Amino acid sequence: EGNVPHIFVTLGASGDLATKKIYPTLWWLYRDGLLPSNTTFYGYARSKITVDELREKCHKYMNVKPEELEKYKQFWKLNTYIAGSYNNADDFKALKKALNHNENGIVSNRLFYLALPPTVFESVTVLITNACKGLKGWTRVIIEKPFGHDADSSQKLSDHLASLFKEEEIYRIDHYLGKEMVQNLMTLRFGNRIFSPTWNRECVSSVLISFKEPFGTMGRGGYFDQSGIIRDVMQNHLMQILSLVAMEKPASIHPDDIRNEKVKVLRCISPLNFEDVVLGQYIGDPEGEGEAKLGYLDDPTVPEGSVTATYALAVLKINNERWDGVPFILRCGKALNERKAEVRIQYRDVPGDIFSGKLKRNELVIRVQPGEAVYIKMMTKTPGMTFDMEETELDLTYDSRYKEVKMPDAYERLILDVFCGSQMHFVRSDELSEAWRIFTPVLHQIESEKIKPLPYKYGSRGPKKADEVCSESDFKYYGSYKWVHNHVT
Ligand code: BG6
Repeated sequence: EGNVPHIFVTLGASGDLATKKIYPTLWWLYRDGLLPSNTTFYGYARSKITVDELREKCHKYMNVKPEELEKYKQFWKLNTYIAGSYNNADDFKALKKALNHNENGIVSNRLFYLALPPTVFESVTVLITNACKGLKGWTRVIIEKPFGHDADSSQKLSDHLASLFKEEEIYRIDHYLGKEMVQNLMTLRFGNRIFSPTWNRECVSSVLISFKEPFGTMGRGGYFDQSGIIRDVMQNHLMQILSLVAMEKPASIHPDDIRNEKVKVLRCISPLNFEDVVLGQYIGDPEGEGEAKLGYLDDPTVPEGSVTATYALAVLKINNERWDGVPFILRCGKALNERKAEVRIQYRDVPGDIFSGKLKRNELVIRVQPGEAVYIKMMTKTPGMTFDMEETELDLTYDSRYKEVKMPDAYERLILDVFCGSQMHFVRSDELSEAWRIFTPVLHQIESEKIKPLPYKYGSRGPKKADEVCSESDFKYYGSYKWVHNHVT
């Protein structure tokens, strides 16, 4: 775009998301020379602070190396901060005035990052539209979850946004779409002759998509308790992964062709049944250390007696020709035994076994984090004189195969995509409403019946019941195999 000036406005600039994530990301993009050369940054929030105070708040998240100090100073010189309320038209006129203060401002392209609580979302978007949209350049708005609370409230929000912005102007972030291995799913599936013919009900017994975190809500309980793990992780992050794993091949890699396929596969999924869900809530482990002694209900920001789930497992069925009968198991939880996000495609048993039941199922594992990897669990003859067999792996571990490559953070890729106008890794409104359609009935049931989640200990694998449901859902867990990170020594 040549030398067109760009203005990046962060609304909610003094808040958590902005100071921990957005400002650091902007700085890294600036540092690495990835932003258009003529970019300036505006922060807007209620707190009456200065740019220097904002810089102080952000500093510990910015990772500045000594040799970068000069550049870091330049970055902050490009920043302006304006205090104002979220529902006062005059305050937004002041913002407008600042943005338009010279010819650069007037011709600029504008990005608005709404790092705001949902309560002020509507008023802010109206005020931006009235006062601050680009005059000659384009306008793009970046928004984050919660995108509503259920199907109706989300639709209301989408309708509100649609009345102010075109879909091409709206960038809904699901930061899982910015992760390397999530972005790799398309290449793995549609770029490899070896996988595509087996990617179906003839060959696959089940698909397991997991998200595990080894820590609890840690003072974030106020927010978390309003949503629960299904809204926080499953309905968004895990469903995005599911649609990329399960969708048909798009007509091209154009963002709308891809999103059309994602919507189409979601449309083949019926609303989740309560019978196909396991809920858990962590309790303290008396033998654990520090935080681990505390349960969810011990978090002072969590309302007393809350029945909000911190763990959930759900089994979804995709009613189409490719996947009929194949369980898609989604599971996610906090305060578990490890940090891990991965996709496991488990293959069926080999028909006509000649090895007296010694075979274990093949599995293709796509590890999103930590430590990106793709590996296939497969059987091999035990090397040496014997004719025994054992399970082994074909292993693509990124930090040994791609040692020198620095993996960008999800937010870095996504914010850069917004500058470039690429919506491939953003959530379209119809995708969002399909995801809500699948989860809303069960969420309403859980809430109206105040279903009590099963307790599980901090640092454990989650409720036992969840493992049982996995095995009932044609996912075999042998417990005998351990993937050893980085075999190459
Ligand atoms: C967020 C959730 O969307 O994703 C958090 O609100 C969760 O509860 C986080 O911890 C996990 O993201 P990541 O990138 O650390 O896996």
